[in-house]
Amino acid sequence: MSITVKPTGELIESGRKKIEWVRKHMPVLSYIEDAFLHEKPFEGLTIALSVHMEAKTANLAYVLSRGGAEVHATGSNVLSTQNDVACALSMMGVTVNAIHGASDEEYKEHLKTTLSCHPHIVIDDGGDLVDLLADECKEYADRLIGGCEETTTGILRLKARDKEGSLPCPMFAVNDAKCKHYYDNKYGTGQSVMTSIMQTTNLIVAGKTVVVVGYGWCGKGVAMRAAGMGADVIVTEVDPFKALDATMNGFRVMTMDEAAPLGDIFITVTGCKDVITYQHFKKMKEGAILSNAGHFDCEVSVEDLIGTSVAPPKTVRENIVQYTIPRDVKDVEGDVVHLNLLAEGRLVNLASGDGHPAEIMDMSFAVQAMTALHIAEEGHKFTDNHLYEVPDYIDNAIGSMKLGSLHLKIDTLTDDQYEYLNNYTV
Ligand code: NAI
Repeated sequence: MSITVKPTGELIESGRKKIEWVRKHMPVLSYIEDAFLHEKPFEGLTIALSVHMEAKTANLAYVLSRGGAEVHATGSNVLSTQNDVACALSMMGVTVNAIHGASDEEYKEHLKTTLSCHPHIVIDDGGDLVDLLADECKEYADRLIGGCEETTTGILRLKARDKEGSLPCPMFAVNDAKCKHYYDNKYGTGQSVMTSIMQTTNLIVAGKTVVVVGYGWCGKGVAMRAAGMGADVIVTEVDPFKALDATMNGFRVMTMDEAAPLGDIFITVTGCKDVITYQHFKKMKEGAILSNAGHFDCEVSVEDLIGTSVAPPKTVRENIVQYTIPRDVKDVEGDVVHLNLLAEGRLVNLASGDGHPAEIMDMSFAVQAMTALHIAEEGHKFTDNHLYEVPDYIDNAIGSMKLGSLHLKIDTLTDDQYEYLNNYTV
């Protein structure tokens, strides 16, 4: 079983260039790196990361290693690992176990191998590392001080574990920090999802009907960017408040049953499962495009596509597989409809693209780096294995550093104003 890709000169060089490029566009993380270099706060500590193995996450792993940590990194999705980046990172003092297109068994093996370093700190994206530490790989949890979780779906999994009391260590909800989800989930997902759909299909967005499924942080960003490119955007939701928000932002809101025959491009971002299934596929327009940006590949039912296709799935372009679905619907032309699934239904911006812009991940990974530092310095004070919020001082420091890096200044409250706002009495 191939555990990791064999580094060749060509792969290393290509990965190195990608990492060097993003490093120039991640000023806050560079600032933190300078401080880490001088203070070596992670000396004697081992950090295990499960992240989308691309250039920006490689930079995070490298910055942690510059802070004195022994760093072991693996992927968090079998299609988002970029082999050239994995090779280059393995030449930069980080142990890497990841390969693009790994089987599910290989993926799990890579996670386990990474955890066998007996980490003090874990940085997880989606909750797979923590799941292993809590169940199958308890023996690797003996030195754990704490961990960080990057995404919404991972937080949901941690909340379930917190409720049943099965977290393996104190965990910090990095996704919920303001400097993470306000920018990464909204602007990052908005831009990178539309970019990857356009690159993967080489088709126009303007004039098309784009159905955004889920109007949370990510959905808002995707809907905003699709509309900005000239698409007619429909939103489907299950939460009445989010649905009203979408209406007041100018989008049509309806059920998926109603949206199915109208959409040219479907984008799921719910963190839920089975949001588009055969009951919707059979009503869709000929040639409709299906894509997912949620963490797991269960939002567009690939099972239904495979199970109902009356012809073998056909790769029609790199990262696009076409299914032939029987219509079974009155008043709709044709016995079958051809539907195009992007990137196997895995999160399209990472499985068929480079992920979020570097400037956005600068903030997300600054939160990761500073939360890891918080765990290294204060972790011993967290004696209960619960899910904790990232402290405000981290958000405030990163927000200020980011503004500084953009050469933007803001006003400060006078003492009088502070008093007025904080001790308000009529
Ligand atoms: P969120 O909780 O802010 O939004 C999810 C929305 O989906 C909610 O408004 C919810 O009401 C709605 N929803 C849930 N089930 C639904 C259903 N069956 N039909 C229609 N709407 C439904 O979550 P957020 O932060 O927007 O994240 C969504 C997903 O995207 C998660 O899986 C998260 O991990 C992932 N994510 C992906 C990124 C990427 O780069 N592709 C980046 C950040 C998060």
